[in-house]
Amino acid sequence: TYVIAQPCVDVKDRACVDECPVDCIYEGPRMLYIHPDECVDCGACEPVCPVEAIFFEDDVPEDFSHYASINVEFFAELGSPGGAASLGPTERDHPAVAALPAPVT
Ligand code: F3S
Ligand code: F3S
Repeated sequence: TYVIAQPCVDVKDRACVDECPVDCIYEGPRMLYIHPDECVDCGACEPVCPVEAIFFEDDVPEDFSHYASINVEFFAELGSPGGAASLGPTERDHPAVAALPAPVT
């Protein structure tokens, strides 16, 4: 599967969403998450992210390695909704993401 990492936090460009053929990139308040079982590894999302937040699971940089489980755990409650567009934005980030310092404004 592919993984979205910290550069997405508070950026949420969403270019990746438009590229995904199976609509498996789900929105939280501060970042987006790839569903590990719904992703078909097409890789279309990875090059379009302007902040390079998306990695194949084996290529996640060490600094962001915990984001592999963050993407998985995000779906613990949601299960497999089968489509991000019909689900819409969700109300809760993964706790580790929610706990990140707020952006400087
Ligand atoms: Fe985030 Fe990049 Fe997608 S910023 S929403 S992973 S295009
Ligand atoms: Fe979609 Fe990216 Fe996976 S485009 S199918 S989330 S590799």
